[in-house]
Amino acid sequence: MPSPLAVAAELARQTARSATYWGINELASRFARRIEPTAPRYVPQRPVPTQRQLFGEIWKLLQADAALVADGICPPFVVEEGTPLSWLARIRAMVADMPEAQRRRREEGRQEVRADVGPSDLPDYYTQNFHYQTGGYLTEGSARIYDVQVETLFMGTASLMRRQAMRPIAEHLRGRDQRDAHLADIACGTGRFLGQLAGAYPRLNLTGIDLSDEYLAEARRHIGPGRQVTLTVANAEAIPLADASQDVVSCIFMFHELPHAVRRRVTSEMARVLKPGGLLVLVDSLQWGDRPGWDGLLEAFPHRFHEPYYRNYLDDDLGKLVEGAGLALTCEAQAFMAKIVTARRPLA
Ligand SMILES: C[S@@+](CC[C@H](N)C(=O)[O-])C[C@H]1O[C@@H](n2cnc3c(N)ncnc32)[C@H](O)[C@@H]1O
Repeated sequence: MPSPLAVAAELARQTARSATYWGINELASRFARRIEPTAPRYVPQRPVPTQRQLFGEIWKLLQADAALVADGICPPFVVEEGTPLSWLARIRAMVADMPEAQRRRREEGRQEVRADVGPSDLPDYYTQNFHYQTGGYLTEGSARIYDVQVETLFMGTASLMRRQAMRPIAEHLRGRDQRDAHLADIACGTGRFLGQLAGAYPRLNLTGIDLSDEYLAEARRHIGPGRQVTLTVANAEAIPLADASQDVVSCIFMFHELPHAVRRRVTSEMARVLKPGGLLVLVDSLQWGDRPGWDGLLEAFPHRFHEPYYRNYLDDDLGKLVEGAGLALTCEAQAFMAKIVTARRPLA
């Protein structure tokens, strides 16, 4: 078991990291206002939390993260940003891209990625400038700054929200030989969750699936050559894994970016590849009413960042969604701006 000192160090490190990203978030907002001082800002009709309530929930998440370490579920969070210099270079690249992102926000509806890609095998819903980011999910530059963008948006908590998926996974794998167990992270993106899993389970068979070659290249770089992880470019609507082959399937922050019908196809695919008794862990945005008084944040989100399917996601019943795919819903929990949904494939 880790020492109380290691747990306290984790809490202190993550608090400092979150405070740093909060500072970057503040500076980035000021910079955005300077670029376009007269740009109208969407004002939600629904209630928004106070800053105190926001920080209160971040503090609870930081404590829940330290509890993962205290309970021996995973090692302290590995700093994901690389060297301070490479991190600064990513922050600089993110800031340099802000005027372009602002322009896309102004010209709502214009999709440069679709125009760049031309006819391709990629689904139409995918080839968009999600979050107004240059290159959508399809360039090396976008993959390079994705994580600092997301961490800035969530004040350093994105990785910590993902890490909360480790608790149900640890409970599911407890007592099993890792070498015989398989986990697939669907839409693994730049591999930050796979990196955490690789640290906690050195022998677990890990697979990452994503439609973006460039994001998988970043994932490969992040995980490093020392750990064997299978990374495959594929559409989650047709997962290239055998039926009943996975003990655990995770899927983090993708559902809100999928059209309604696609969300259903992907869920059925994840159910298909799970072994009987296998565990599905979904992490995604809170939905309407999950945290009373916070709905205004959810209402504003798709207006500030290009998220064409987010409103549909907010209305979707995730319990019914997983049950519709033949899974049994086991738990729903919250972690700051995220909800964690777990379900099991029935044994028979
Ligand atoms: C918001 S990112 C989340 C990435 C990662 N799971 C994380 O926690 O940061 C959404 C990811 O879903 C991937 N994606 C979207 N639609 C997909 C599809 N149909 N099949 C596979 N990947 C998809 C994107 O390429 C992107 O990496």
